[in-house]
Amino acid sequence: MRTPLIAGNWKMNNTIPEAVVLAQDICNNFERDWASEVDVLVCPPALDIKPVKTVFEFDRVKVQVGAQNVYWEESGAFTGELSCGMLASAGCSAVIVGHSERRNLFGETNEDVNRKAKAVLAARMTPIVCVGESLFVREAGEAVEYVCSQVEAALAGIDEVEARSCVIAYEPVWAIGTGRTATPEQAEEICAAIRGVLARRYGSDTAEAVRILYGGSVNIGNIELLMAQPDIDGGLVGGASLDARGFLSLVRACV
Ligand code: G3P
Repeated sequence: MRTPLIAGNWKMNNTIPEAVVLAQDICNNFERDWASEVDVLVCPPALDIKPVKTVFEFDRVKVQVGAQNVYWEESGAFTGELSCGMLASAGCSAVIVGHSERRNLFGETNEDVNRKAKAVLAARMTPIVCVGESLFVREAGEAVEYVCSQVEAALAGIDEVEARSCVIAYEPVWAIGTGRTATPEQAEEICAAIRGVLARRYGSDTAEAVRILYGGSVNIGNIELLMAQPDIDGGLVGGASLDARGFLSLVRACV
């Protein structure tokens, strides 16, 4: 049985003071008996990671902290970039890699995503590998093939043991930030296909062990039907993660 994971992607929101206030609000509303039933992760902007981690540690609240991006080199002349070692030293346990906004706005390729995933694994953190199709691909009826090709490329050179440490997040681009959530059936079709790729690459035991999240306008109105799907193990949440009570209502729905 896979433990549900609710991960908040804060994107480019919250200064350090605002992030501390949001983290404290999460602590003030977090019910500690949830910790054994749902894994909870927040991914603030990089500057906020250490302050947010400090708030959770001080209050002894079992919420993990992750990053939204990383570079695959350990150090060097890569102006503006952050390494896995830097993120881990700030308290990160996970890193989102290949988010569609990084692919579409910053030109990240499948090969970049693969390099990042491998670097995150080498640093003993959890890569949350994002895949998802555009509306054009979906309307062309090619969503399954497209997303499966993204998963194959992201997992190139990653062995079975490493794959068990990965999380895959299916985020249809047309559902991100639009309020137009994929139907549970649409989401399950793709997540089941992703699990099929995992089974073909690593065998059924590993495929069944890997958590697959859905992301794209997740909210309290759709989380339960999404979580009722056999191949959806949680959510990667954007807008709804920026309000503590709203975010925790999603966690509560998974208990
Ligand atoms: O990474 C999660 C994000 O892309 C989803 O955003 O606002 O549609 O929940 P949102």
